[in-house]
Amino acid sequence: MKITVLKERRQNETRVAATPETVKKMTALGFDVHVEKGAGLAASFTDEAYKQAGATLDATSEAASKDTDILLKVRHPLMKGDGNVDELSALKKGALLISALSPFTNDAGIKAYAKNGITAVSLEMIPRITRAQSMDILSSQANLGGYRAIVEAIYCYGASFPMMMTAAGTVPPAKVLILGAGVAGLQAIATAKRLGAVVSAFDVRPAVKEQVESLGAKFVEVESDEAQDAETAGGYAKEMSADYKKRQAEKIAATVAASDIIVTTALIPGKPAPKLISAAMVKSMKTGSVIVDMAVEAGGNVEGSQPEKIVETNGVKIIGYGNLPGRLASEAATLYARNIYNLLVLLWDKDAKKLTINLDDDILKGSILTHGGAVIHPNFKHLGSAAAPKKEAAKKAVPQKEPAKKEIAKKVAPKKEPAKKATPKNTKKKV
Ligand code: NAI
Repeated sequence: MKITVLKERRQNETRVAATPETVKKMTALGFDVHVEKGAGLAASFTDEAYKQAGATLDATSEAASKDTDILLKVRHPLMKGDGNVDELSALKKGALLISALSPFTNDAGIKAYAKNGITAVSLEMIPRITRAQSMDILSSQANLGGYRAIVEAIYCYGASFPMMMTAAGTVPPAKVLILGAGVAGLQAIATAKRLGAVVSAFDVRPAVKEQVESLGAKFVEVESDEAQDAETAGGYAKEMSADYKKRQAEKIAATVAASDIIVTTALIPGKPAPKLISAAMVKSMKTGSVIVDMAVEAGGNVEGSQPEKIVETNGVKIIGYGNLPGRLASEAATLYARNIYNLLVLLWDKDAKKLTINLDDDILKGSILTHGGAVIHPNFKHLGSAAAPKKEAAKKAVPQKEPAKKEIAKKVAPKKEPAKKATPKNTKKKV
């Protein structure tokens, strides 16, 4: 059974979907792995290393994709009109595509996967359940992204993070504010703390307070009854009311003005990122302050941030780098490739040496967008005309994490496990 690994051609994509380590493991499972020449170079993996791991190197993406059964990608495949290469049309009917597929902004892609008879697994949609943790690209990539956001901020910041006591006087520590304390935010908190900064954080989900405090940061609280209902059953944030947004803006404005560095990570699945920092707030910051808008590709949390640019306004730098994990390409690819390998193990029947796609498995129910010529994921069914067989219907709207203890008690669902605390240690978007 043939697996193909292609060079990523989208802008600023440095990662690769398989590393020599995972090629070796996939070969050991019985797969015939083909890698396009140069696929790993931007992530420091040489063609020679892939060859030694058992891969066949192909000079072109067409050759690598010919008759392939499984295509592994980091970003959704290029289609006709996207450039010189049409990665999708090169796939035969029935092939399996495993990749981040940006499903909420990729209608044309989803329609094409169904039309071409591709079984498309969207890695971002894998549910946040314990069994799927090792396949969770959102976690593995956001964790690195949160760390890198602080590194980028430091590079642009002209003062020190830790307090320094010298004979010539004391240098005060940097004041850092993290908005959105999910996986990326918690890692940004931990990194800034390790470097000696004084850190505050805010999130609409009150459950996060304890996690923020356990990392030694101060939690900025917004008084509102709405906060108790800010989280979906899947553990994600909901879009808040206009009243809540007003209270939140008032509450964080004072902290913003006093901060030297701000990292924003706030995302709402399937919706534009909430605007948390207005131009007036940016203006209130001291000259030399730095903001990193990690949500820039989803529309941005900061007024004025621009994808792939550092915008300077009133002496405040706003960094809008889209693919922060890609700035740690080797490590990001290593984790991403392991996530994919772990998913393949789930799909691979090693005795029969064939793929077994069990559409009743929660992991696959949540992440398969198209199968058998139809769009089968309930969130995106409106994009396909063919009706999917009943048993293929997935239940949940967005990737789910396991219910927190409180929810379990409420729902009396003893079989489900309590959610893991999302500390950087056990945690892990834009991929
Ligand atoms: P995300 O990337 O979707 O969002 C980032 C953060 O922004 C979230 O914490 C969210 O609450 C926050 N946010 C959204 N709107 C906001 C606003 N208006 N103001 C301030 N903050 C706002 O989230 P991520 O990091 O993917 O985590 C989502 C959930 O999944 C969390 O509950 C996390 O604990 C959970 N998780 C569960 C795992 C598991 O295996 N059980 C693994 C990793 C994460």
